[in-house]
Amino acid sequence: MPQLQDPGATAARDLAEEPVAYVDLAAIEHNLAVVKGRLAPGTKVLAAVKADAYGHGLVPVARRLERAGVAWFGVATPGEALALREAGVEAGVLLLGPVRSPELITRLADARVALTLTDHAALERYAAADLPRPLELQIDVDTGMSRLGLPAAATPALALAVARHPKLRLGGVWTHFTDSDDPDPSTTRRQLEAFEAALAGLARAGVEVPLRHAANSAATIAYPEAHYDMVRAGIVLYGHHGSDWVARQEPRVRPAMRLEAPVTFVKRVAAGTPVSYGALWRAPRDTTLATVRIGYADGYPRQLTGRGWVSLRGQRCDVVGRVCMDQLMIDVGHLDGVEPGERVVLWGEGGPDAEALARSFGTVSYELLSGLGPRVPRVYLG
Ligand SMILES: Cc1ncc(COP(=O)(O)O)c(C=O)c1O
Repeated sequence: MPQLQDPGATAARDLAEEPVAYVDLAAIEHNLAVVKGRLAPGTKVLAAVKADAYGHGLVPVARRLERAGVAWFGVATPGEALALREAGVEAGVLLLGPVRSPELITRLADARVALTLTDHAALERYAAADLPRPLELQIDVDTGMSRLGLPAAATPALALAVARHPKLRLGGVWTHFTDSDDPDPSTTRRQLEAFEAALAGLARAGVEVPLRHAANSAATIAYPEAHYDMVRAGIVLYGHHGSDWVARQEPRVRPAMRLEAPVTFVKRVAAGTPVSYGALWRAPRDTTLATVRIGYADGYPRQLTGRGWVSLRGQRCDVVGRVCMDQLMIDVGHLDGVEPGERVVLWGEGGPDAEALARSFGTVSYELLSGLGPRVPRVYLG
């Protein structure tokens, strides 16, 4: 019996009694086509599939995207990179952060995973590792994110140092935007100038760069001049945008995930009845409450207390009282004869928009989607 990650999968389970995230792979493929339609011929796409493909499921999503012509995948951890290779993914895999462990560097090199080069110390680590085959490195230029990498002016020296190691190859140079979904272009323009300066410095130093890339989803849509040889698309493939400004420029994408959960219990309550921890909500009138089998341990954020709503029979029902670990309550007083077993949509098609829900408590759809826990089975459509 294989070791299953999903804590519910080994036990008897009936999906009708659980939350389920339906992932529409056809929608993801459609979103990829929308992205490709904005690119010049020959421009490659790296699909960001880190964090379990933003909660949609690493391997099923990557397999589908590879078939649809994605040339590269971007991941955040060695485990994600190796999982792609173990699943038979042949496309390029770029680990978007540095690695310290010599054993992992060896394994990643063997699996033909390209690593991010941030500075000379990382270069020495990579060069010192036991490399069964040449290791591809891609330099992350810090143009303003201040997360990883050296500034533009330091890029040529780093690239020339790569060339001195026979088992290391410079595969690409990239940067990451901080504000490309903001209608004010000044920060993105400054970052682009810095990236251009890095590329010009590399050209002067005689360094050939096989792959230059900068654009995340927002820049893919809003800054064609930032496409270079490849774009790195994440959230747009899953059908969301980081801002309304970007959404207005590309309205054709479709959210790929629909999160559903079942009603488990229904009861009438009198006006004034307190609901859930802390009695934050009291029934303002006699009404009917339905308890739903999803909570913050599944990834339905507790911050949606007092803000969230769900769709039941196509009607809006407010989440009332505190969201619990495994359950939440909704007011269904305006619906007739709601029964256990009926399913509500928590976000996605037919229900609230994940982006709007996320913004209602000051976050982004990225956090909501990637925060969906391993307890929620993903079921693939399309
Ligand atoms: C380095 C890098 N490139 C690309 C992406 C994809 O970003 P987005 O989902 O906004 O397209 C990310 C995600 O945060 C990233 O960290």
